[in-house]
Amino acid sequence: MVTSAKPGEGKSFTALNIAASIAQNGLGEVLLVDMDAKPKSLSATMSLTDAPGLYNLVANPTLRIEDTLVRTGIGGLSYLPIGSRDVTTSEPGVSRPVSATIERLRRRFAHHFIILDCAPCLSTSDPSTLAALVDQIVMVVEAERTQRSELESSLELLRACPNITLVLNKVRLTNSYTFGAYYYYGSKP
Ligand SMILES: Nc1ncnc2c1ncn2[C@@H]1O[C@H](COP(=O)(O)OP(=O)(O)OP(=O)(O)O)[C@@H](O)[C@H]1O
Ligand SMILES: [Mg+2]
Repeated sequence: MVTSAKPGEGKSFTALNIAASIAQNGLGEVLLVDMDAKPKSLSATMSLTDAPGLYNLVANPTLRIEDTLVRTGIGGLSYLPIGSRDVTTSEPGVSRPVSATIERLRRRFAHHFIILDCAPCLSTSDPSTLAALVDQIVMVVEAERTQRSELESSLELLRACPNITLVLNKVRLTNSYTFGAYYYYGSKP
């Protein structure tokens, strides 16, 4: 699962890059799942908001997973859109049927890397609910924006998952940060 404390820190960017890297480097087959129901999600970026996806699988357990997957231009990388909003269950967020669908994906794609592009932790309860279902969490942290207290609160919400990796994103490099700058600082030419 890829998440962050707040919106816009780079979750979808990171999820897509991890997914593409694994597939392109031949490390395994990958299923990237859009778990974020907001209007400008990855599915919207890919013009796939009307395509069947996760919500359709939740609402209709007889629907074949294969009929909802979108093949990408990268070999070994498939994408599951968020799905049609009109079939969402009455419960907001990650309900029991959504968790059951994630488990169904896990069983069906047991040998794939399944990457969940989620909502932010401090905006919805989704990541906290999903934390117990996933093997690893990638927590994206936007440099110079997210506060330590916000990150700590988020990590507390995710404590059901013992394997959390932090990614510091959107770091702005200046000349003083270039490789070797520290070593040569103050040294004579
Ligand atoms: N490392 C990066 N380098 C350059 N641009 C980035 C990087 N990370 C994110 N961005 C850009 O920042 C913007 C926000 O990124 P993204 O949509 O991935 O964030 P998000 O956390 O998924 O947002 P949301 O909470 O709205 O889903 C996008 O325009 C994305 O291309
Ligand atoms: Mg996103």
